[in-house]
Amino acid sequence: MLDATEIQIMPQGAPPSAAKPEIGAATSRVDGRLKVTGAARYASDLYGGANPAHAYLATSTIARGRITRLDETEALKVPGVLDILTYRNVGDRVKPGKIFSQKGYMGSSMAPLASDRVLYDGQIVALVVAETFESAREAANRLHIEYAAETPSATFDSPGLDTVSAEEASREGEQPGEEKPKVGDAQAALAAAPVTVDQHYATPTQHHNAIELFTTACAWADGKLTVWEPSQNMYGFQNGLAEQLGIQPSDIRVISPYVGGAFGSRGSLTQRTALVALAAQRVRRPVRLETTRSQGFTIATYRAETRHRIRLGANPDGKLQALIHEGWEVSSRPDNYKVAGTDASTRLYACPNVDSEVYIVHADRNTPGFMRSPPELPYLFALESAMDELAVALKMDPVELRRVNDTMQEPIKGLPYTSRALMPCFDAASKAFGWERRDPRPGSMRDGEWMVGWGCATSMYPTQMGPASARVILTPQGSVRVQTAGHEIGTGIITVLALTAVSNLGVAIDKVAVEVGDTELPPAPVAGGSNSTASIATVVAKACEQIRARIAGAAVAAEDGPFHGMDPGTLVLADGALRAPDGPSQPLEAAMGRAAGGAIEAYAENIPHGIPDGALKKLYQGQATLMGGAKMKDRMQFAFGAQFVEVRVNMRTREDRVPRLVGAYAAGRIVNPKAAKSQLMGGQIWGISAALLEATEIDRRAARYANADLAEYLIPVNADMQEVTTILLPEQDTEINPMGIKGIGELGNVGMNAAVANAVFHATGVRVRELPIRIEKLLDASAVPA
Ligand code: MOS
Repeated sequence: MLDATEIQIMPQGAPPSAAKPEIGAATSRVDGRLKVTGAARYASDLYGGANPAHAYLATSTIARGRITRLDETEALKVPGVLDILTYRNVGDRVKPGKIFSQKGYMGSSMAPLASDRVLYDGQIVALVVAETFESAREAANRLHIEYAAETPSATFDSPGLDTVSAEEASREGEQPGEEKPKVGDAQAALAAAPVTVDQHYATPTQHHNAIELFTTACAWADGKLTVWEPSQNMYGFQNGLAEQLGIQPSDIRVISPYVGGAFGSRGSLTQRTALVALAAQRVRRPVRLETTRSQGFTIATYRAETRHRIRLGANPDGKLQALIHEGWEVSSRPDNYKVAGTDASTRLYACPNVDSEVYIVHADRNTPGFMRSPPELPYLFALESAMDELAVALKMDPVELRRVNDTMQEPIKGLPYTSRALMPCFDAASKAFGWERRDPRPGSMRDGEWMVGWGCATSMYPTQMGPASARVILTPQGSVRVQTAGHEIGTGIITVLALTAVSNLGVAIDKVAVEVGDTELPPAPVAGGSNSTASIATVVAKACEQIRARIAGAAVAAEDGPFHGMDPGTLVLADGALRAPDGPSQPLEAAMGRAAGGAIEAYAENIPHGIPDGALKKLYQGQATLMGGAKMKDRMQFAFGAQFVEVRVNMRTREDRVPRLVGAYAAGRIVNPKAAKSQLMGGQIWGISAALLEATEIDRRAARYANADLAEYLIPVNADMQEVTTILLPEQDTEINPMGIKGIGELGNVGMNAAVANAVFHATGVRVRELPIRIEKLLDASAVPA
């Protein structure tokens, strides 16, 4: 039933632009042609073998209550209907699992179709299987469902919420123990500080809206299950699904080749996967589920609304004396999910007195989850807005305020950063931006009918790593296969791994085939927390080094060879040959003839700092701790950046425009500057999106999303973006990992929201503390003196 040819070997084909592709050279994607011609295959393109049945979801139309009647009679009359899964025939067949942040694999601890209970709007209440997609959809629409509805609590300020501190939740044993960053006496220092800021900030619900929909195909053969699903955590899906279905992880294969966007939405298992697996078992043929764009808003995770109170106290010279950051995050009724970004926000600046607290607010909603830069984005919006307010109160340049409070040691425990180039980023970006021409008075810069504002903010993102493994195979003819269960979620990991092989083995890039996206490959961690390059390139380099060492070892041992007696550590593979520095060389084929007489295969594992021994084995076995633990105990690991934005607000209409963005980033060694730049630029643009446009609106009475589609969920289009400058600063970090790599995927959008809000204040004199910044929030801008 399963056609192995559906698993594609990732492509080759020389990149058109790079002079000589190697680590550090701007290189076009090796799979660029496949992607732009539509030849790249995504999980949604793979139908689960021949003749699949099709599934369609029915979802709840209330947010809280019970199903009182569920009548399938009319649905079953639709021609081609094969099966209908409801709570009556699923029940406890699917076990609940732990959520990702509690070291589980699920987006929610709620099991699918477990009972008649409805816990949020858009919850799956039935899965209909039919011969065709159209039949399944029609039957789902003909299900007759009645509810006993209760009044739901939608979000902050709704009646009936239930709030718990994150500390309390962790004491209940529901969360892994977490620290609450605190040092000194922040309350006393705040009371004594000559200059203070005390403000509240808010960020809205947002949805990932990856272009590839939430599809799943499942097929059983000989008791083994194959799942085709877009994923950024295949091994997690394998293990989580095994728990849910009560089978062995080794009986499940997850295939997720190219992924059409993820951004955190595919890091944890949703409720749909187990249902499709169950349906395929019941109808004894492969089942393929397609969900709608709107269903994607409620069957997967989202970025929760957050609220913040920031209190800052400073001396007249700008030096921070007190920082108190309190955060509130909306979660579901059963899950204590939170991102707790105070871990980062309390460590950004030097400050002797720091306190923080995070609260979880339980509402009648699905459980939220990771979305690009989950903690740093909302928490640094609050902090970096407050820092700008402090600069205004101090009559100080905001860049200088950051400089005065810059530090090479975080303030809570005094731990040094492995490297930190925040102020070099500010200097490079402010120079490129022309910041010295800024008139600091709000509303002072005009261009015709436009009020012009310039703002800036800090970006920071932790460097995370997970346990990873890879196999590399080199033939004497110089062909290479790189095999690892990494995820190509659009970030360019395939090209990064190809470059790693090229630089270590001296082969041509068009002879490297990189295979990712399949649990049959050696395990790699979740593609989350911007950890993939640091985790996987490191282990691929390690496998390549084993191959080099083997070839070099044979070469120096050969008495009749040109390398006899040399130090094997000095020999390198470059340009298709084994070479001694300033010495002899030998074509690869001849050199490999000595070592192996055929292809050489090497397997390597990588257990980064802070990850316990055996973690990789656990990844195979399904008890993985994937990231978060991967930190040095005595060091801070962060990448930094500086965001600068020009905003223009029309004096008559209050329409806002962003003609210029400049970002400068220092993130360790950059393997592929071309892909890195495009990642960071994407982050800058997403920052504009979130600052000015994005919000999932909720109808508070029904706890239901009002704009659950791409027509009404606003994002910028090309015409909204004008000049975007992305500067990469060279940075050497010898401590963070062997290749000196930091994560970049999520660095680009952190700080952007605050930079825009700060620029809007500078343009108009209006401080918007609640995102997104839409026209109606700028009506007061007439308060600015002409
Ligand atoms: Mo990211 S939110 O860790 O995909």
